[in-house]
Amino acid sequence: MPDRSVQLIYLDPPFGSGGRYRTFSDRWRWDEPDRAAFDALAASPLGPALSACRELLGEGDLLAYLVMLAPRLLELRRVLAPSGSIYLHCDPTSAHYIKILMDAVFGRVNFRNEIIWAYGGRGAKSGARQLGRNHDVILLYSCDPSAAIYRPQTVRRRYSAREARHLGWRQDEAGRWFKTAPRGDYTDASLVRLDAAGRVHRTHSGHIRIKYFLETEDDMIVDDVLLGDTWTDIPDAMHLGHERTGYPTQKPLALLRRIILAGSDRGDVVLDPFCGSGTTLVAAAELGRAFIGMDLSEEAIRISRERIIQL
Ligand SMILES: C[S@@+](CC[C@H](N)C(=O)[O-])C[C@H]1O[C@@H](n2cnc3c(N)ncnc32)[C@H](O)[C@@H]1O
Repeated sequence: MPDRSVQLIYLDPPFGSGGRYRTFSDRWRWDEPDRAAFDALAASPLGPALSACRELLGEGDLLAYLVMLAPRLLELRRVLAPSGSIYLHCDPTSAHYIKILMDAVFGRVNFRNEIIWAYGGRGAKSGARQLGRNHDVILLYSCDPSAAIYRPQTVRRRYSAREARHLGWRQDEAGRWFKTAPRGDYTDASLVRLDAAGRVHRTHSGHIRIKYFLETEDDMIVDDVLLGDTWTDIPDAMHLGHERTGYPTQKPLALLRRIILAGSDRGDVVLDPFCGSGTTLVAAAELGRAFIGMDLSEEAIRISRERIIQL
């Protein structure tokens, strides 16, 4: 692939469950080829990071996984456009080691977010004298912070009247819900205009605040808030419904739509080098992006192709 040709990369490489799925294995073992791969990377920007990981982890499954990932990250850095960004999906057992590799490849200053995707449910291992594990980690790096695009995303939150009151929101005489914010930079002239539009709220102590009216949907009060780094509104694969392909580890389209909308524009190229059932490719196609998917598993490619053809 040409250098700097991809706007957005999402990858969800297999590690964590230690499972052997019908389509692919995510069990990793340290072997002779891993030592050779490790040695071959010694002179790369990843050499010191991998040596540190070997010190910490010894020559085992996690190191074998990191050595598999390392040359792929270098290639991904090469193909990423200056305005591009990369989202690496992993889990809390490996995220902190992967982050060291990502810092080495993309630069620590290019780290943008550690996104917590809290997918709900009881969580794995919840019966094993520990908290249930019910979140994944998505590491976001940009290529060049001055050129990177990030299209701000909002999430719609819904509140009952009781919750809304608890948040300090009120209703006017006509029953319309509103929240308020300080006057800020509004001039006196603007304030007169806002007052005429019913947008000025006077507190008991005589202070002036600006009203922001809220929509309602099915008796719930809704508020669109800027998306932060903790995502709790997208349920996990157990709730895929009609999206379900039967491919293990399939991710929800809603998750990929959000990432693609944030990191690319129509016509841009999106790459998923561990595409599995093709979720990224389907979301990219729906949103008018060009897309490239790769996978070791023939079944993954077959399912991805079928999903795209059916669009
Ligand atoms: C966690 S799954 C990805 C699931 C995907 N995000 C989805 O929504 O369906 C990881 C994928 O990586 C693939 N894989 C494993 N090792 C690979 C490699 N070295 N190169 C390409 N794909 C690989 C597996 O076949 C599997 O489909």
